[in-house]
Amino acid sequence: MKKGDVLNGYVLTTDPQGGGGYSEWAFAQKDGKEYFLKRFLQPTYPLPDGPGSERTKAVKRQRCEEFERHQRLVMRQLRPIAGEGGNLVITKEFFRERAFYYKATDKVDVSRISVGDIAAMDRDSRILIMLTAAKSLDTLHKAGLVHGDVKPDNLLIKALDKGRCAIKVIDFDNCFPVHDPPAAVQLVGDPVFYSPELLLYNLGKAQGDQLDEKNDVFALGLVFWQYLTGERPKLPDGATYPAEAVSKGTVLTLPKSIKDRPLVDLVQSMLASGSGERPSMTEVHNALKTARKVGPAAAAPVHADPVAPAVPAEAIKGELGGSLSRREAAPPAEVSAPALKGSLSGSWPVVPSADGSAGEAVAEAEDNTTSGELRGSLLKKRE
Ligand SMILES: Nc1ncnc2c1ncn2[C@@H]1O[C@H](COP(=O)(O)OP(=O)(O)O)[C@@H](O)[C@H]1O
Ligand SMILES: [Mg+2]
Repeated sequence: MKKGDVLNGYVLTTDPQGGGGYSEWAFAQKDGKEYFLKRFLQPTYPLPDGPGSERTKAVKRQRCEEFERHQRLVMRQLRPIAGEGGNLVITKEFFRERAFYYKATDKVDVSRISVGDIAAMDRDSRILIMLTAAKSLDTLHKAGLVHGDVKPDNLLIKALDKGRCAIKVIDFDNCFPVHDPPAAVQLVGDPVFYSPELLLYNLGKAQGDQLDEKNDVFALGLVFWQYLTGERPKLPDGATYPAEAVSKGTVLTLPKSIKDRPLVDLVQSMLASGSGERPSMTEVHNALKTARKVGPAAAAPVHADPVAPAVPAEAIKGELGGSLSRREAAPPAEVSAPALKGSLSGSWPVVPSADGSAGEAVAEAEDNTTSGELRGSLLKKRE
């Protein structure tokens, strides 16, 4: 794959960049439109003229069929909820050329904004970003899907007008129907952002039917933590991942310097160890709207109704006795393990920023809040 190559009609306009060993990607043009094109490095399709015994090829073909089935299932389920120009950036085309699979999505004009920049923004702008993230993921959850790889790298920031920004959710490669994840060995997410139940599943210590949309609530809680502080949570000695620390009973507590009571309460509720104790994404979205309204000093309820835990904290606590799978084998204490696939670099991908489409993007962000309140105030601010 290199600049100028043509793949299924897509002309590569950049050289490819690496995707942590699992993929490589470039920008491309087709029929006058710009796309993001990703090549999956696994699985590869065994070509008739390629090396390997017929038996090995049959096993590989079967793995490819599963992969195709999964990709097409997710595409089918996402298409009706995404909407043209919406905030879920879905696959437009999925194809194989020779041994490799590819997917194309619309190109997003990404802003050069780091989590640190978000932490330094005014409160309203920050909450708008959080609202668009929660709303987009809530749409996904209402369709019965779990994203499975929520992290800052997969929440692209698009500039709106007047310095405001909204989220575009990308990378549905780990997306799965609630209670029905792919086999643990096929998970491609980043353990730094795993929920306790996803970590257990990955370690073979829990069943997949315990995995639901609350997984994404935990991951988004960690993302919001960074939006508030610019940093990842400090973990106790011996814990590599937040999920691990939380499962062992650590309560991740935001620094006292973050004086935003409703947002602090929200983030801490999202990081509860038991999945049932966490708010739903709808509740997260509503809590953000309330937080915006009441200001930083007031308390605001997070849960609409008290709920029974789906996966109680006790079921998780103590289960993570120490062994982590070799695949994600333990880097030293802080979460900043560079070895981890796709781990945060602390800065956003540098993609040239846009274009005259701020008006359209504001409209999308407004749709994505469903808050008359927010819409009114945005309009007021634009006047
Ligand atoms: N639609 C898009 N428009 C612009 N940049 C994108 C788009 N999709 C992905 N990217 C960039 O490419 C990176 C890798 O894409 P992603 O689908 O997350 O692949 P992976 O995580 O498997 O490497 C993202 O973190 C982002 O910087
Ligand atoms: Mg990604």
